[in-house]
Amino acid sequence: MDRHLSLSQAARLIGVKRGDIQKKIQANELTVMEGTVVLSDLKKAFPDAIYEDNSMLEKVEKFMQDAVHKMAQSEREGARLDALSRRIVKVNQELAAERQRSRQLEELIDSLRQELITLNNKGIDEPLHNTQQWLDEQLYILNHNQSQTPVAQLEKQIQQFMLPHVRLLPSRHDFISDKSETLLESALRSGLAVDYGCNNGKCGKCKARLVSGQVEKMGHQDYVFPENEKQQGYILTCSNTAVTDITLETEEAINTEDIPLQSVTTKVKHIDKQHAHVAILTLKTSRSQRLRFLSGQTIELSLNNHQHDNGQPINAEYSIASCPCEPSNLEFHIPIKDDEPFAHAVLHKLKENESITLNGPHGHFILNEDSPNSLIFIAWDTGFASIKSLMEHAMSLDKAESIHLYWFTTKIDYHYKDNLCRAWNDALDNFTYTRIMSEAKISTITDRLIQHLHYDHPHLLNFDFYISAPGHLNHQLKPTLLAEGVNSQNMHFEQIFHGQEVTLE
Ligand code: FES
Repeated sequence: MDRHLSLSQAARLIGVKRGDIQKKIQANELTVMEGTVVLSDLKKAFPDAIYEDNSMLEKVEKFMQDAVHKMAQSEREGARLDALSRRIVKVNQELAAERQRSRQLEELIDSLRQELITLNNKGIDEPLHNTQQWLDEQLYILNHNQSQTPVAQLEKQIQQFMLPHVRLLPSRHDFISDKSETLLESALRSGLAVDYGCNNGKCGKCKARLVSGQVEKMGHQDYVFPENEKQQGYILTCSNTAVTDITLETEEAINTEDIPLQSVTTKVKHIDKQHAHVAILTLKTSRSQRLRFLSGQTIELSLNNHQHDNGQPINAEYSIASCPCEPSNLEFHIPIKDDEPFAHAVLHKLKENESITLNGPHGHFILNEDSPNSLIFIAWDTGFASIKSLMEHAMSLDKAESIHLYWFTTKIDYHYKDNLCRAWNDALDNFTYTRIMSEAKISTITDRLIQHLHYDHPHLLNFDFYISAPGHLNHQLKPTLLAEGVNSQNMHFEQIFHGQEVTLE
């Protein structure tokens, strides 16, 4: 195809002055069209001209064409990015408005719930009690289903895409760092047992070496790193957040030996006495005095304001029923037994805001976090406490393909957290719940369990079992499960504390 050249290009190409070309045009020896001449016409008008190698010209032209093309392309991409960022801003505004509305509704529902509790405590009213239970159940389902809504899923995907990922070494555990939280808070919320102490930048126990990426200070820091650690890039996870994807080298608790014995003073946040056989005690820890523990462990509780008649402190050991991922609120399930001094004090003397000291933790009934197996949990009465802690931890790690709970009781109203379990069953795709009323005969209990297991899971090889039951039931269950092909390394047993009210035959 013939090329069009501007007069300047044509003059440069044949080594004449621009005026020479114009003279040819005026003499009608060369045709000009819209300020350009055609190369073949130029050759005719200047037959003796020595045409320079025009490859450079072509390169320049190509470069310019490419540049123009790229500009057009980047303008199109810029427009798309503009539209996308406007959309993100709008979605964020809608999200903020919805969140505010949701908070207001939550406050309203919470007031209603408190009102129902108050009325309920004034006198047993069956319909009122049922309404309150219904409301609790609906609230739990609502809270869990929120994470399943398309908006929440989209938000999670955007967060996963946009928020920094943190990789821990040497464990290779991962979590997402929320910029509104410290690295420590995000790690704990994700169910990881990273090392920490004061949680406010003083003790240095949460220090980790920043292997790659960038962090940003948030919060106070008194701890001074030795010069060599400064040089190696050590940071405090309790006073930094991630700005980019980062890799950290840090200590994590894998075994119970990695968790130090602690003495932590807490305050009573709430005592729920609505259930026939169990009181639910919730304790609050201060920000600077959190309890480090592994899910499934137990701890000794000492009442600081109430003593035995002989002046000795009233204390008792219970399973921690909450997840280590929620270290500020600790839950305990206290079987109602008036002949046990601690239970008696919780029921009749203990008030909100009173102080309780915790000493521990103890016990080896903990989750094998790195197992790829699905999980089967079996609880007997208040054996549910440690099982709840393990299940919540497994849920926060979000690794198990499926989680199954079988909760045995010998009393009709002993499933005191039935609403919670049913809500999990409704809200979580990978969770199933079976409540089982059983006679007190061990043979009947094991038969019924095996029936359920056969029906629900044709193969038991790839499951980890966690069982919290009275000792002699555990002794019976172990050989039964071995006979069913369960690997002994995949079985974890706890002998329940306090909860057994029925003598097993
Ligand atoms: S936990 Fe003490 S400095 Fe971070």
